[in-house]
Amino acid sequence: MNYRIAWLAGAAALALVQGQAPASVRDGIYSVEQARRGESLYRQECASCHGEKLEGGGQAPPLTGDEFVMDWNGMTVGDLFEKMQTSMPADKPGHLDREQNAMLLAYILNSNKFPSGNADLPVDAGQLRLIRFESAPGK
Ligand code: HEC
Repeated sequence: MNYRIAWLAGAAALALVQGQAPASVRDGIYSVEQARRGESLYRQECASCHGEKLEGGGQAPPLTGDEFVMDWNGMTVGDLFEKMQTSMPADKPGHLDREQNAMLLAYILNSNKFPSGNADLPVDAGQLRLIRFESAPGK
């Protein structure tokens, strides 16, 4: 009996049983439906500065593309969420609730072609902090 393999299998089974939170932004951490709701909210709250296509404009940086992804690479999805929650929209910071910021973040992740999954992005700070933000493979 190979104990190392047995241990790994046990750990994997335990992770499944505990329904462990996904570890990375590449693991399908939001739903398409949530991103769709985020899109209309984005148009109302964010597009005036960050552009209709998230391309940025003036002082407002793009929220899509390599520059954006590299800004957050190595941080957590929680870091990005809290940044939005506390400082955006820049002309009225903090007026959106966590459900709304989760929708907006789902839309931003979808626009950056991170894969969607079955469940909505959570709003819980502790859970969000466990999800690494990383650039697409090969970048
Ligand atoms: C009044 C203009 C304005 C509005 C409206 C606005 N932003 Fe911003 N946003 C900025 C500026 C300027 C920055 C750069 C300074 C900063 O990071 O605080 C920024 C930065 C950001 C960043 C960090 C980008 C990076 O690469 O680090 C995110 C994420 C963001 N905004 C999301 C949003 C979302 C989501 C909304 C809509 C709820 C929004 N913003 C609305 C002006 C705006």
